[in-house]
Amino acid sequence: MIEKKKLYINGEWVEAESYTQLLAPYDGEVLAHIPTATEQDVKRAIAAADKARRTMAKMPAHERAAILERVVTLLQQRADEAATIIAKEAAKPITIAKAEVARTIQTYKFAAEEAKRIHGETIPLDAAPGGEHRVAFTVREPIGVIGAITPFNFPMNLVAHKLGPAIASGNTVVLKPASQTPLSAYFIAELFERAGLPKGALNVVTGSGKTVGDQIVTDPRVRMITFTGSPDVGIAIRNKAGLKRVTLELGSNSAVIIDEQVDVDRIIPRCVVGAFSFQGQVCISLQRIYVHEKRYKEFVEKFVAAVKQLKVGDPLDPKTDVSALISEKDVERSLQWIEEAKQGGATVAIGGERQGNILLPTVILDASPTLKVSCQEVFAPIVLINKVSSVDEAIELVNDSRYGLQAGIYTDDVHTAWEAAEKLHVGGVLINDIPTFRVDHMPYGGVKESGFGREGIRYAIEEMTELKLIIFNRNR
Ligand code: SIN
Repeated sequence: MIEKKKLYINGEWVEAESYTQLLAPYDGEVLAHIPTATEQDVKRAIAAADKARRTMAKMPAHERAAILERVVTLLQQRADEAATIIAKEAAKPITIAKAEVARTIQTYKFAAEEAKRIHGETIPLDAAPGGEHRVAFTVREPIGVIGAITPFNFPMNLVAHKLGPAIASGNTVVLKPASQTPLSAYFIAELFERAGLPKGALNVVTGSGKTVGDQIVTDPRVRMITFTGSPDVGIAIRNKAGLKRVTLELGSNSAVIIDEQVDVDRIIPRCVVGAFSFQGQVCISLQRIYVHEKRYKEFVEKFVAAVKQLKVGDPLDPKTDVSALISEKDVERSLQWIEEAKQGGATVAIGGERQGNILLPTVILDASPTLKVSCQEVFAPIVLINKVSSVDEAIELVNDSRYGLQAGIYTDDVHTAWEAAEKLHVGGVLINDIPTFRVDHMPYGGVKESGFGREGIRYAIEEMTELKLIIFNRNR
């Protein structure tokens, strides 16, 4: 019997007026019936979050931390079940789904820890003439109701990057998970319920972007929107959100630079992981590789040989490296972009074909920067390898992008590394690593069309709180 999920509103599991079928991207299996929230449902979710705001704002830090610690314990107990949910609904290979669950546990652990160290600073007001006899300090207050809109690619950990810091800092949340991967979000809501989160502090509503997303973004009771997803949707949210605080974690066409003295054998396995992990559907997936001309031929040969070893197939098979894309539409789009690249003079060294909903891992050589596979976010298992005559040339090519999330450089020369760190126009520079590296407490976010604001629990808490200044005048 196929499970019928319910909306989670005001601490209750609520039937919806209508449902849609959730299909597994790999084999089309019906996984569940997903409730479609109406305007009324979303209104009730926002009202519940608004009502719970005072309870959460008054809750002591140690209690907020304890709730998050209980979520950690519950998730540890049900880690295998959680990974299977992710693997099925996202077609994420099970070994990577397990790694996502391990990261989600870390993210909630960091949130529990950070809940206890949200503090301000003292400011010596007598540094300015007229400020004598005054002592000032700042505190951080919860912003209130937060609208969280999350993507399909890390359906558990990117939800954790919204819920963890929001609850840690005493806020309430209305969550709209990606329509392709709602099961992970409902699973987590169940854990929060069991962990004793007050009713209304978390609400989960699934449905269309128009009914659910727009309403969350425009309702005046929602004080902040935290969104991870595509640049187009992010920009539309920014335009509709008015004076709400907004953090946007959008896409990128991330790149790595490989300098002439680098030991290619050492870095190839890492580059393959960066390009093809979860079928390239990662915002910091390695999409562009710029190799110094002295190492180019060797790099291409060894890289293609390594890609040949990747196993494609069922996400539940522990041997699978690459499985289906999230939708048929994405397979078709990717194939069109590959065709455009071929027409534009690029060469497909391996891949470029589909097997069901799997796009075979694809390596493209000599792609010009104006091709879609180069200048847009591919979000598919496609990587470009291009020859450069210097690191300077590579830096220019990396920066010639609408995006700027993370970039990497492999070099043995400390001066080159330093210069790259200064010149690369991105949110994070990785020296001797791929741009795909992320652990969950580091500041994470981009520049340009990759968005603004930072995640990583402590940094997200800064975004999710208001800084209040309190001044004591000793001369009454
Ligand atoms: C993302 O794709 O936005 C997040 C990447 C990650 O958390 O590793």
